[in-house]
Amino acid sequence: MTARLEFPETFLWGGATAANQIEGAYDEGGKGLSTSDLARYRPDVVNGADNFTFEVTGAELDAADAGELEGIFAKRWGIDFYHRYREDIALFAEMGFTTFRMSIAWPRIYPTGLEDEPNEEGLAFYDRVFDELLAHGIQPVVTMSHYEMPLELTRRFNGWLSRECIAPFEKFARTVLTRYRDKVRYWLTFNELNMNLTSVYTGAGVLMDRTDRPVREVAYQATHHQFLASALAVKAAREILPAGAVIGAMINRIEVYPATPKPADVLQAMREDQTNFFYPDVAVRGRYPGYALRYFHDAGLNIEFAETDQQILADGTVDYIGISYYMSHLTEDRPGAQDETGLLVGALKNPHLTLTQWGWPVDPVGLRISLNRLWDRYQVPIFVVENGLGAEEAPGPDGIIHDQYRIDYLREHLIQIGEAIRDGVDVMGYTAWGPIDLISCGTSQMSKRYGFIHVDQDNYGQGTLRRSRKDSFGWYRDVIASRGASLAGD
Ligand code: BG6
Repeated sequence: MTARLEFPETFLWGGATAANQIEGAYDEGGKGLSTSDLARYRPDVVNGADNFTFEVTGAELDAADAGELEGIFAKRWGIDFYHRYREDIALFAEMGFTTFRMSIAWPRIYPTGLEDEPNEEGLAFYDRVFDELLAHGIQPVVTMSHYEMPLELTRRFNGWLSRECIAPFEKFARTVLTRYRDKVRYWLTFNELNMNLTSVYTGAGVLMDRTDRPVREVAYQATHHQFLASALAVKAAREILPAGAVIGAMINRIEVYPATPKPADVLQAMREDQTNFFYPDVAVRGRYPGYALRYFHDAGLNIEFAETDQQILADGTVDYIGISYYMSHLTEDRPGAQDETGLLVGALKNPHLTLTQWGWPVDPVGLRISLNRLWDRYQVPIFVVENGLGAEEAPGPDGIIHDQYRIDYLREHLIQIGEAIRDGVDVMGYTAWGPIDLISCGTSQMSKRYGFIHVDQDNYGQGTLRRSRKDSFGWYRDVIASRGASLAGD
């Protein structure tokens, strides 16, 4: 029998989203084009396996500029949160959310990133959203940049590959911190700083056919510039935000296991883990770890640092770490294994774990291990800002989605968070990914559903957009109402 779970009274409960996956209205309210507006749903390559379709080339950008890029741009319409946020927030409140993670679409505030003055219509939109949340007793957790940036910065500078993006980001950060200082207490700079290893376009707006540099070097160079921008945003937050407000960095945490106790396998697992720890190492400690410098040297990666950079990093260390957690990864010592680091799905199958419909290994215990390891390493609070199960689903004959599989998935992960808290880890809260069905980041599918709330829309943007409660809706409401105690009885 599971022991009664003790989630602290201050524990934040809610759900997490990103502007480009929910808002839609991509060309309304003075918004400029975003890098995510070029991401396409590709029925030819999406087949239920883990096919990512979010890389974009310079040739595609040119075609888009000429009005000749065809496709299904699902992130342009999202789930119409831009117009329906009141209804959606009311549903979150019905579940008892005390927090809601969302992001600000940078090009709503600075359409090209380069304007001197922000777009008031964009700022006013987020005022309305924050006011609505606060009126329901829901604290916003705001990610400044979640997989998008003004497309113009990609066109002009090739995104974060260039230092030229740092100043526009700092300006944007200062604008939103100042405007919302009395409404938002929880901030994150970038979503999943480690994404650049998987997609330099999604993570950093870089077009690989517009540079001669190798992809690994591009990924780490872009990351270096994001580290600096993040640190400058943290410094700005310290100047602007009132006492009690906090700002963190966020990573996609993937727990890495060695396939055997062979020391070479354990070493390999450690090295792959370092490619994940690298990001919080820099963001929390304010300096590059030795293993990263050695890796750059051994791999022949020429990462450009300016003299002032070390001081910027040291002055901008974060208050907490946000993690998304979806899976663990199994590895072994073999030629080429190092090149696979950063992939979302490992090459080795862990025989002890089941897979989701998209091939993601389900490993709740890995979350407890991750939380403990992050806490041991940094001793700063950790916020689980994403975790969830993507599944294809349709309403039953009674019109309701009976998603017991999602309840099982979330319950097991929450139980492990409870265990980590009992282990002594300072966990700030939990926001389930996609509390309402939204557009998939990786595949731009609508049919990869995560929500407690179903949205009637297909992969092509067809549907009534009607919202309806799944079985997990009432289940999560009970978990929140009982502060986790109901998890033991399910
Ligand atoms: C996280 C991202 O890595 O994974 C989200 O921060 C994303 O934006 C989530 O949606 C789930 O991935 P996907 O590809 O299933 O949408």
